[in-house]
Amino acid sequence: MHYKPTPQMIFMAGGSRERPSYGDYLNLEELLALQGDENISADEMHFMVVHQTFELWFKQVIRELAESRDTLSSKQIAEEMIPSVVHRLVRVTEIFRLMSQQWTVMETLSPQDFLVFRDGLGSASGFESYQMRELEILIGLSSEQRTGGMDPLGRFRKMAKESENGAKALKKLESRLNEDSLWDTARAWLSRTPIMGSSPGDEDDEQVVKNYVESHISAQVNHGEEMAARMSKWGMGDSEAMKARFASIAEGARDFLMPNGEIDRARAGLLFIESYRDLPLLSWPRTLIDRMIELEEAMVKWRHSHARMVERIIGRRIGTGGSSGVDYLDATTSYRVFTDLWSVRTILIKNELRPKLENPEFYGFA
Ligand code: HEM
Repeated sequence: MHYKPTPQMIFMAGGSRERPSYGDYLNLEELLALQGDENISADEMHFMVVHQTFELWFKQVIRELAESRDTLSSKQIAEEMIPSVVHRLVRVTEIFRLMSQQWTVMETLSPQDFLVFRDGLGSASGFESYQMRELEILIGLSSEQRTGGMDPLGRFRKMAKESENGAKALKKLESRLNEDSLWDTARAWLSRTPIMGSSPGDEDDEQVVKNYVESHISAQVNHGEEMAARMSKWGMGDSEAMKARFASIAEGARDFLMPNGEIDRARAGLLFIESYRDLPLLSWPRTLIDRMIELEEAMVKWRHSHARMVERIIGRRIGTGGSSGVDYLDATTSYRVFTDLWSVRTILIKNELRPKLENPEFYGFA
């Protein structure tokens, strides 16, 4: 193997400018000096190594998410740029899947073995993982969406007063909060989706989109009435109650697509992509949406498996960070950032019922 020197290596003490070794390239000397091995037990070193590997992955995740967000943020995204975002999100998903598996290594720590050094952690907790908060903010998890209205910066404001590192973490998080998130840029991108061949700024775009949304909703109402009649015939409930249930789904579709009576173009674009997934021009957009869903699903599963590992090691104790522990962690598994991508699934209808496609040639369909 031959490694090209990075600028950082060239100036590294002890590194060779001519022919960097494996260790030089990876900064191994520095990396392996960070586990405090002489002073701690094998169990505690394991605890530290597991945490550090997670934090390294978080670092990579932040980089991938920021670059995906930046690519998506340009007003005119070249067609070939979407695959690059897809590629990054696939990597992030795989990292979360790997991290979900990694809890099993943590679980080799028995409750008793953990108690040996747990008090030494003081109030240090995953709560203070600023990279975790950074990646959540970057994805688009808002403070309002957090359980109990938890302030993600609260802990860091306190830490900023106590140490330079705390102040640095707070500054970083504050600046991330002022940036657009991946979800903000994805919504802006969705709002530019050509619907029935019409793009924002085109003459009549508003009318075209409104017609599309109205015809989708009326197809859904008709289908709901048919289903209600069929299900009550099968003896699955009183016909009026069934009708009301299906009507409320159609009402939900209206609220989703037209909150406050105004069309939400991003949601209409999303519905269009999901409904006409078979169109050649929409194949990358739908792939991107699929990968975003997959990423969020992987994150939820990662949070869930963290909670199960914690339950196994500390039961229902409160966390070192002062939360209720497992109950708090379980509550975080209900977080959904890409809310619209999840909600649209409820209002999709089968292909035969969707509104007739206008301008099929626009989408590469002869
Ligand atoms: C014995 C092992 C572990 C136990 C018992 C444990 C326990 C907990 C508990 C109880 C919380 C809730 C906050 C609190 O009150 O402290 C928490 C949060 C957290 N832990 Fe762990 N944890 C362990 C290992 C890890 C590892 C290896 C990581 C990897 C970085 C990690 C990352 C986090 C993160 C990021 C949070 C914040 C979650 C959020 O607020 O959404 N934990 N942990």
